Amino acid sequence: MQSLFFLCLNSKLRLLLVTAIVIIAVNGVDRSNFKTCNDSSFCKRNREISPNQSPYNVVDDSISIQGSKISFDIKNQANDALLAATVAVLRNGKARLRIKEKNPMYPRYEVEDILIKEPDEETGVLANRDDQGIQLNFRDKQLILTLKPFRIDFLVNNTLVISVNSRGLMNFENYRKKHKPADESTKEGSENSEAVNQVSSETEDVPAVDENLADKVGQRDEELKGLWEETFKSHSDSKPKGPSSVGLDFSFPGVEHVYGIPEHADSLALKSTSGGDPYRLYNLDVFEYEIDNPMALYGSIPFMLAHCAKSTVGLFWMNAAETWIDIDSNKAKDSILSRFASMLKGNEEMPQIDTHWFSESGIIDVFFMFGPRPNDVFEQYASLTGPTYLPPLFAIAYHQSRWNYNDEEDVRSVDSKFDEHDIPYDVLWLDIEHTDGKKYFTWDSTKFPNPEDMQKSLAAKGRKMVTIVDPHIKRDSGYGIDQDASNQGRYVKNKDDNVYEGWCWPGSSSWIDFINPEHRDWWASRFNLDNYPGSTNSLFIWNDMNEPSVFNGPEITMHKDAKHFGGWEHRDVHNIFGLYAHKATADGLIARSGFKERPFVLSRAFFAGSQRFGAIWTGDNTASWEHLKISLPMIMSISIAGLPFAGADVGGFFKNPDEELLVRWYQTASYQPFFRAHAHIDTRRREPWLLAEANMNIVRDAIRTRYALLPFWYTLFYQASVKGGTIIRPLFTEYPEDVSTFAMSDEYLIGSDLLVKPITDASASSTSIYLPGNNELWYDIENYKWFTGPRSISMSVSLNKIPVFQRGGSIVPRKERIRRCSSLMYDDPYTLTVALNRKAQALGQLYIDDGHSFDYSKGEFSLRKFTYEDNVLSSRPGSAYGNYKTNSWLEKIVVLGMKNKPSKISVSGKNSTPRKLKFKYDRENRRLTVKKPEVNIVDDWEINFKF
Ligand code: NOJ
Repeated sequence: MQSLFFLCLNSKLRLLLVTAIVIIAVNGVDRSNFKTCNDSSFCKRNREISPNQSPYNVVDDSISIQGSKISFDIKNQANDALLAATVAVLRNGKARLRIKEKNPMYPRYEVEDILIKEPDEETGVLANRDDQGIQLNFRDKQLILTLKPFRIDFLVNNTLVISVNSRGLMNFENYRKKHKPADESTKEGSENSEAVNQVSSETEDVPAVDENLADKVGQRDEELKGLWEETFKSHSDSKPKGPSSVGLDFSFPGVEHVYGIPEHADSLALKSTSGGDPYRLYNLDVFEYEIDNPMALYGSIPFMLAHCAKSTVGLFWMNAAETWIDIDSNKAKDSILSRFASMLKGNEEMPQIDTHWFSESGIIDVFFMFGPRPNDVFEQYASLTGPTYLPPLFAIAYHQSRWNYNDEEDVRSVDSKFDEHDIPYDVLWLDIEHTDGKKYFTWDSTKFPNPEDMQKSLAAKGRKMVTIVDPHIKRDSGYGIDQDASNQGRYVKNKDDNVYEGWCWPGSSSWIDFINPEHRDWWASRFNLDNYPGSTNSLFIWNDMNEPSVFNGPEITMHKDAKHFGGWEHRDVHNIFGLYAHKATADGLIARSGFKERPFVLSRAFFAGSQRFGAIWTGDNTASWEHLKISLPMIMSISIAGLPFAGADVGGFFKNPDEELLVRWYQTASYQPFFRAHAHIDTRRREPWLLAEANMNIVRDAIRTRYALLPFWYTLFYQASVKGGTIIRPLFTEYPEDVSTFAMSDEYLIGSDLLVKPITDASASSTSIYLPGNNELWYDIENYKWFTGPRSISMSVSLNKIPVFQRGGSIVPRKERIRRCSSLMYDDPYTLTVALNRKAQALGQLYIDDGHSFDYSKGEFSLRKFTYEDNVLSSRPGSAYGNYKTNSWLEKIVVLGMKNKPSKISVSGKNSTPRKLKFKYDRENRRLTVKKPEVNIVDDWEINFKF
């Protein structure tokens, strides 16, 4: 009835209605738009499995061992269905378990393009076998496969760290024919007759499967709803292949904290889900999302870190379908009852976290990473899905966006106001209103008649522009992209094999099928300057709505029975769809530059591996203190899951922040990796100069501080791009034995050397800060006061103060001559802040390259290692050698923690004659400033301090 009324409206009214529903109707999330576990039949089915009754046994005579890999079949004793499994020990402390159907009726989707290469198997693995199972010994680790029921345990140094199926919650729903009870198959007009016909006709020519299996499972079907068809609100999912979920439990003995599995607006240390819904991973466009909630959001990374003071392990569940994860805290003695229980030291009670993962389709493909420390796990994970790409320098500077900058005059005025107020920025963004009727790759010719000139005048100052290009395409026969996509068959299809249509910003829209590599190539070529009229080389891209968001679809997304390349259903690929759009866009920008320039693409949806293609942000947050506060754990959780280039809209997207909130937001975000102000179309303008002058000055300082620290941020991005890992870091990852940091997320580290405590409470006049590390010194970067860790301190924080500390033992590079944008600071000189530790030592790195091209991959970079030791500060090549030359020199050294005044300071270097240097010593603050060493920053040199 409702949908009939909807269809009777003309298209404009329909669009208005949909937009109104999406934008205005609700204040706060409309929960009824999104499924709870109870609304999802596979979630319910998996959650209802009783523990300790696993029907899955390894088939004795199926086992074969080749090197580090065991292959075996698993039989479901309840229905005789057979599964084919392998478990392999991988190099550098990893393992992989894969379970598929032995003789599938339909192929099952296996995630592609996420692993950067096929992982290397471990060498020198020794196997022992008895009638109960198999043990593989590798380095200080053991893998124990128990046959009945199927179970795997991993031990590190004889301590159990991960157990698989120890609670017996494994579930693998084999594809099968629909059970047709005799009386129902003859009934006309029965509820399911349409679905039955459809499935039986589809299954006619599939290979025969065990009929008994169909029957045995079929009896159960009658008890469980939603196996063959499912409805949610007015949407029905035809489920042509029937139920296909996969699930498994993983326990982490000794562990009280697990982290990761973004994206959720929730705490850093994940909560027990018992009594509530599991954490859900299903990329969704959630209007006015709520915080402290396990509901799914725009991105999904099925990676979890389990940590305790003694060990850290990681788990990556490589599945792109809708996934739910239950978490519970238990006592190991109750739950780890295995023949290996004796290996638990003394079998005493100890904490344990039990997790249960289940996905709607696909296969079981899980990676285990054994640390032993958080940073080791991050490296192990990066060896699978890749480290972050190295962004161009401008991308980590400050971005100015709103929905929308209205026309060329608006752009010109905003741009010049930054200069007038001496506030640096690098990129100006244009949201959907810049297009001709939401047709991406076009311009509204009235508002933006000369887009190339507009970009060129920004580029003349070293600045860039970003335009939005969403993956939904307006259905309009006069629109070239739609014409080509239609004629060339590039759209996702609906269940009836017609082009899938839905509603999004342009009204009636269809979606490019990014699962198809050819369509991705075609999409990438849309970014050639010739194909994107009005674009220039200084234009970069924003992919929004790529979950994909479908305003009139189930849960505001695509129908699960929509069809993709290869015959895959949308259900199989939902969580990877946005990544493919992101990747295709990034590839397009690279190709546009003749494969010379690094791309910048911001994406809202993401999946494991998205770190290789660009940045992401946390979507449509709200201008509230709670949202500012939650941005910290959200960005940290995303970082932990391998995607460090993340940020949140500064100021909050919805609603209007008051000045205090906006100031605090700028201060916080200036210390987060992706730093962009953005706001909803209905909000008041809030560019920095619209604040009271005193507040604008604070915002200016925050942005300028970011620019001064760009060399430090860029070096961290370089390090993460080589080894993987985080850039902003929860304290526990650097102080893994300090239990007081395990649940802490209101402060964090940038790299390992700066500790930031953002102020996220209204009217705060003081804050307490925890400074970790035994005997670690921490220097306040503003007044050089030092404190010894571990301890909590209280500090007063007027509006212009955000506590930031430099760790004793570190050297932080800065550029202190702040200009209009990062590229204008390119050849500027450096300042090094040397913060001494208790042994009067310090260490730091600086990475430099041209800031934009791929030449660094051919050796055009310089990595310097600075060391302060035995009263000598030296600069030497770092761990990787490059040829890059720069004109930048060292203009200042600040040494913190210098107990005595030197009598003489002199410099000597490869390219400079030895000479004495001028300096100033501040005894009270133990601070020494050395002026103008004037050595080239990439040369080898030494500065001697005589006492
Ligand atoms: C939703 C995005 O999250 C938001 O940032 C953007 O402004 C609007 N779409 C309009 O494009």
